[in-house]
Amino acid sequence: MRQGREVWATRTGLILAMAGNAVGLGNFLRFPSVAARNGGGAFMIPYFVALLLVGIPLMWVEWSMGRLGGRLGSGTTPRIFQHLWQHPLARYLGGLGIAIPLVFCVYYTYIESWTLAFAYFSATGMYWGLTDQSGMGGFLHAYQGFTQSENSGSLFYAYVFMAITLAANLYILAKGVVRGIERLAKIAMPVLLLFAVILVVRVFTLGAPDPALPDQTPMAGLAFLWEPDFSRLSEARVWLAAAGQIFFTLSVGLGTIVTYASYLKEKDDIVLSGLTTASTNEFAEVILGGCLAIPIAVAFFGTVQTIAIAEGGMFDLGFQTMPIIFQQLPLGQILATMWFLLLFFAGITSSSALAMPAVSFLQDEFDWTRRKAVTAVGVSICILVQPIILFLEFGFLDEVDFWIGAFGITLFAALEIVLFAWVFGMGKGWKEINMGADIRLPRFFYYVIKYVTPVFLLTIFAAWTYQEGKPRILMENVEPENRPYLWMARGLVLVVILVVFWLIHKAWARRQARAGGEA
Ligand code: PHE
Repeated sequence: MRQGREVWATRTGLILAMAGNAVGLGNFLRFPSVAARNGGGAFMIPYFVALLLVGIPLMWVEWSMGRLGGRLGSGTTPRIFQHLWQHPLARYLGGLGIAIPLVFCVYYTYIESWTLAFAYFSATGMYWGLTDQSGMGGFLHAYQGFTQSENSGSLFYAYVFMAITLAANLYILAKGVVRGIERLAKIAMPVLLLFAVILVVRVFTLGAPDPALPDQTPMAGLAFLWEPDFSRLSEARVWLAAAGQIFFTLSVGLGTIVTYASYLKEKDDIVLSGLTTASTNEFAEVILGGCLAIPIAVAFFGTVQTIAIAEGGMFDLGFQTMPIIFQQLPLGQILATMWFLLLFFAGITSSSALAMPAVSFLQDEFDWTRRKAVTAVGVSICILVQPIILFLEFGFLDEVDFWIGAFGITLFAALEIVLFAWVFGMGKGWKEINMGADIRLPRFFYYVIKYVTPVFLLTIFAAWTYQEGKPRILMENVEPENRPYLWMARGLVLVVILVVFWLIHKAWARRQARAGGEA
């Protein structure tokens, strides 16, 4: 067991790092697009319900599990689950808390690299003049190497920017928790906030861009998002989308918060810090994220078309519509650069978090040096990202995201809560959460964590597997020629999981041999 694990240097640094972990592309790209597709005002009610009943409770649970892991000398879920449940299976289930974030890290970093590329293209004016959706769409697809698009195919820029982005991530990880992650968060978070505020102010000083349509303003976009629509509350789809967005945006259900929390000191507060992290993320999401893409798109294109754009895909709003709009504004090039840099800063504080469970596992369980662990993870990412880059147009990334970002997250979140509240026991769990607390958690949450969160989660998981999982698993809406790629995507996820299982097996065997040697 590794002695002297690092600890966060300051509380501000810790909170900024945790907030950096949570605030990501999900806040500025995914949230607007998911909200628009699920009816705006209809979406926000289940969204807040899921935040209160699942998101925040899971945040506390993950912080507690992480701090507990730190006491055991480990930052990852194999050892922590094993502590919660003394059964050999527990450590393998915990392996999902390494494999899922690692695969997530691979494609998340790739998307993050697009934001850096587009910041560069904005600053140099490379797409200037492509002022409609099909023009910008063609530009994006050429960048992504889609074979059908003209002048495409080289993927040159895609590889260059992926290399730069990955190098930046590895550099931060190699510097460690305090000098890498904590320092990055102290720079990236304020910059991100500043850029977001500037852009929000710009959006809301627009008025009606088209004088012929005086009602088409950013305020109309806000109204779309915030006017509650109770009529759609009976649709399971909206609830599933809302819960999924909550997991994704808070970074819960994956193990990254657990790993970050393992670098806490034993008596560090969890209740207030966890709540502050969640609140910061929600501010960045519903206030900042909610005041950017949707209001500006509605002002320029109207509500109906904005919904249609969002239905087109997760990235259309951010990578096509926003650049088109910026081209019509004074100082547009600067604003567009700011928009993509904002995304990049949001992304990098999350992608480095996603790599941490794997890094931490190799350090804690195999006594590897940080440098060696980071190198191994970097090499794995280089290999795993290849099919994601090359087969993007055949739906490879989408398929991986389904298994990891939707199915995996929900499954792992359910596992965590059941192990914590039921196997470990809510009595002990409650003590863990409140140990060292600046404010004691109201008793109300004891019952929420014990009953409501697990029931909510398991219901969501079942409903979702049935509704969206079944057609997906059976590849019902997939063209036959794309199916082999999707099978490869599933194969890739499976291989990573199996490799992690094998490593866990090795780590335990190694420890047992040592214990035997000492005895
Ligand atoms: N929360 C991040 C976002 O909003 C994504 C993420 C999920 C990061 C899980 C780490 C772990 O983009």
